[in-house]
Amino acid sequence: MEKTFAQEVEEGLSASPKFLSSKYHYDDEGSRIFQEIMAMPEYYLTNCELDIMKNRALEIYGATGFNTHFNIIELGAGDGAKTKEFLQNLLVENIDFTYVPIDISKEAIDILVKTMNQSLPNLKMNPQVGDYFEVMGKIEAKENCPNLVLFLGSNIGNFKSEWAVDLLQHMNEHMQSADKLLVGFDLMKNPNLIRNAYNDSQGITARFNMNVLTRINRELSGDFNLDTFDFYSFYNPENGDVKSYIYSLIEQDISIKETEKSFHFEKDECIWMELSKKYSLDGIEKLGADAGFQFKEHFLDSKGYFSDSLFTKG
Ligand SMILES: C[S@@+](CC[C@H](N)C(=O)[O-])C[C@H]1O[C@@H](n2cnc3c(N)ncnc32)[C@H](O)[C@@H]1O
Repeated sequence: MEKTFAQEVEEGLSASPKFLSSKYHYDDEGSRIFQEIMAMPEYYLTNCELDIMKNRALEIYGATGFNTHFNIIELGAGDGAKTKEFLQNLLVENIDFTYVPIDISKEAIDILVKTMNQSLPNLKMNPQVGDYFEVMGKIEAKENCPNLVLFLGSNIGNFKSEWAVDLLQHMNEHMQSADKLLVGFDLMKNPNLIRNAYNDSQGITARFNMNVLTRINRELSGDFNLDTFDFYSFYNPENGDVKSYIYSLIEQDISIKETEKSFHFEKDECIWMELSKKYSLDGIEKLGADAGFQFKEHFLDSKGYFSDSLFTKG
């Protein structure tokens, strides 16, 4: 059975070193702050993937080999701003598909629906609020046309290597033999560029991480005082890991009523908040193979910073 927020917080804050799952970043406020991150000049990822969506959409469609109606199922669609460009390219060519954006945040889906209705009035759309796999299970049961599954925005980078394999394997199990999977990977590159993307001068990334403490205070009756914590992140060019932390500026105990516990922090003690892993092209192909997929093609942006990589179910 899936663990509750309270159980995961208790487990993470009792561990040594402490950690919190990055999936809890995305309450409605977290999704809003993530939109701000995507608009930051340092956060090159958005423009790179936008470039692929704008300029390589028809090549990606060609590589799927689809020639009848299909679904484009997007896992964790967010505001769909980049995907909109991809869809527009297909609509211009009268390609027949239904777009199925899935997101756990209702606010994200509401914004997406509004944007799509305004910009692409002819789009066939079946938006879904909920967990990726629960919704995918339902769609699978009803539909018998092929699916192009999108997992964009370097979401995969939030998973440790072995979890990334598990996640892709899980997707594989939910897919039919004709389905295709397109995954967005941020590539290893100039380490200063990567470091700056996760350590912005305006402190937006720090706010994004601190919001998880606010969420614990609100939903689990915690007593984190945000002024006594700060944010730190670093990039390791040897293995591609960007790791983000919140650390305590003082020695203190934090009480969280819903867990019926308090948690001790030494001065400077860290909570590991997020992994944002960068991949090599070989690493992407190996990951796909480990999860049972056949690699088809990498679609890079014009700077060669980012890849949307296509796989077929093996
Ligand atoms: C990093 S954002 C990426 C958004 C978009 N794909 C992009 O590239 O701009 C991740 C999105 O996934 C959603 N999400 C996270 N975990 C989810 C889950 N288990 N099921 C559905 N959506 C999820 C979040 O609400 C958020 O909108």
